[in-house]
Formats: sequence, structure tokens, C-alpha cells
Amino acid sequence: MTVEEFFDQVITVRMREDRSSLDIIDQTLLPGTIKRIHLNTKEEIWEAIKKLRVRGAPAIGAAAAYGIALLASGIAEDQYDAFYSRFKELKDYLASSRPTAVNLFWALNRMEAAVIANKERGVAAIKELLFEEADRIREEDIRGIGEIGFGLLKELKKEGKEIGILTHCNAGTLATAKYGTATAPMYIALEKGWAGTDMHVYCDETRPLLQGARLTSFELNNAGITTTLQCDNMASILMKSGKIDIIFVGCDRVARNGDAANKIGTSGVAILAKHYGIPFYVCAPTSTIDMDTLTGDQIPIEMRSPDEVTEMWYKERMAPEGINVYNPAFDVTDHSLITGIITEKGMCRAPYDKAFEALGIGR
Ligand code: MRU
Repeated sequence: MTVEEFFDQVITVRMREDRSSLDIIDQTLLPGTIKRIHLNTKEEIWEAIKKLRVRGAPAIGAAAAYGIALLASGIAEDQYDAFYSRFKELKDYLASSRPTAVNLFWALNRMEAAVIANKERGVAAIKELLFEEADRIREEDIRGIGEIGFGLLKELKKEGKEIGILTHCNAGTLATAKYGTATAPMYIALEKGWAGTDMHVYCDETRPLLQGARLTSFELNNAGITTTLQCDNMASILMKSGKIDIIFVGCDRVARNGDAANKIGTSGVAILAKHYGIPFYVCAPTSTIDMDTLTGDQIPIEMRSPDEVTEMWYKERMAPEGINVYNPAFDVTDHSLITGIITEKGMCRAPYDKAFEALGIGR
């Protein structure tokens, strides 16, 4: 199977051709069941984002964009002001589903900007162009991340030796469209003719929701890349063993100073990487860089339900009834621990605010 054929199989988010519903792969059922589900109402779209049926920062943005296009197409008002006011209500409702990934707000704001910019064209035309804008958001070309990351892999390549890559959570095709972010260097390597055995990807399991075990190891294994799964608390011994040459992770929001929020556990990986002298790269589409958030301290961290820690995935509850549970979904990696932030427009190195400005981000 070519990389392109693989991507065609895994279309995380799409609009049905007749535009009757939003069609997603239900990621809560993976890897056991590959099932597409159809979302029609605002409650169904909100619930799918909240419950991580669709997840990963870029995929959440695409789902919200298609979602608001679908909901807007059903607004009965044909006068602009009444239409816009209903649109805003729906937009605010979808925006309340998850707080951390900035792509959700970025995509919804972009959809609103399209409404405002086309006021004079009338409601019917606006409804149509919202679907087109959502297509563009989904298709944002982040292949450049893979090209830059592949350049780093080439520098590490030594005859007869596989390159050891560690990743955390899922920042792959399931979280985006096509290449993913942290996985993009690996998929580009396959496209350029590397064998799946030229690299060896170690996936952190990613407690408590197991994105590494259920999603990343599933998609990389399917793509033919040598893949090993380890529990999160095994990352230290793995790094010490010398098996890891480089680390790529995704992110949900990067602050102006380069602090990066990603799945819980990422900052621990970065601290270990610093200790063992392993380069640690954050892969970030420019849509994930939030110049209005000055430092990581300002990034809202989503807190999730205790049952994800105590019961989910277990046959029976694995903690005493009534125990207090701490379950933040994300943490922030300090910019001082990050070797570089790879965007589709170029590599950014510290000082990050200057590097982002040089790429025209936030202008
Ligand atoms: O809670 P999730 O599964 O939505 O968290 C996803 C992550 O943290 C990803 O690493 C991030 O969104 C990058 S996806 C390209």
C-alpha cells in the first residue's frame, strides 16, 4: 500500500457528499473497530469533540469548521443580521466543547470571518461558501512539517542502523488530514523510498486515554513502520538504553514564547530528553501557534472525568470508590526544553517569539 492509499483509507473528518451530515471515524472505538459515524445536530457534534470521537488539534478544528457549516446551512433566517446572530450562538456552543487546542477557536473564528467578509453576498451564498472554507481548513497543507522533520532524520541516518524515534499521544493522520504532524517526517520518509525498517518508532501508551496504544501504534503499524509500544513510565529506561535518537511530538497550543501545550505526559518526556541529551522537537502547524497567548501559564488546561483514570479500559474498577482523582488532559512543556518547533513554513529556534514573527505568524 502506498502512503497515498493509506491516507485515503483514513479520512478522519469529512462532509457527506450530499452535505446531509458530518462523517467522522469514531476514534473511541479504535483499534478494534473502524466505524464511521454521522453527526447531524449541534449536540452530536459537541459530544463527538468532547468525548474524543474526533480528537487531535487539527482534526478538532476541521470537525468544528464542517460542523458550523452544516449547522449554518440549517438556519432558517434569510436576513443577514438574524442569520449572523444565530450563527454566533452555534459557534459559541461548539467552542465550549474543549478549552485547550487553539485550532478549535482558530477554525471557528475563520468561519466567522468568512461570514462577515461576505455579508453583501447574501445568506444563501454564505451558506455555500462556508462548506468551501471548511474544505480549505481541512486541507491546510502541513506537509512542510514532514519535509523539515525528514531532513533531521536524514542527518541521523547511518548505514545499517535504524533511527529510533519516540513519540507521545497521537499526532498522526487520525489527528489531522493525511501526514499528521509528529508522524509527518516518518510518512515523508516512506514516500521518499525509505523502508519501514529504516526507522523504529517507540510510541508512549499515553495514559489515561491510550492515544499512543490505540491510535499511533495502530496507524504506524498499518503503514508498515517498525513500531514498538511502551508504557509512559518506561520512557526513561528506553532513552537511557540509547535506542532513541530523536523525539517528535505534536501540540495543541504554542504560546508566543514557545511554551507548548500537548497531551499530558509530554513535558515529562521533554525533561527526560534534556537529561539524556536527546533532541526534542514540537511539530506545530502555524494554526496551533497562538500569538495572543504570551506564555504557557495562560493556556487553559482541560480537566477530565475521574472515571477515565479509575475505570475506563479496565474490566472492573481499579481504584477505591470515592478516591480523589487528578486528571488534567494536557501539560505545558517549557520552551527551554524544546530543541525546535517545526512548522509547515519553517523550523523555529529560540527565541521563539522572534522566529514566529520572522515567519509572518500572527500578522
Ligand atoms: O486529547 P487529544 O487526544 O485531543 O490530544 C491530542 C494531542 O495532544 C495531540 O498531540 C495534539 O492535538 C496534536 S495533533 C496533530
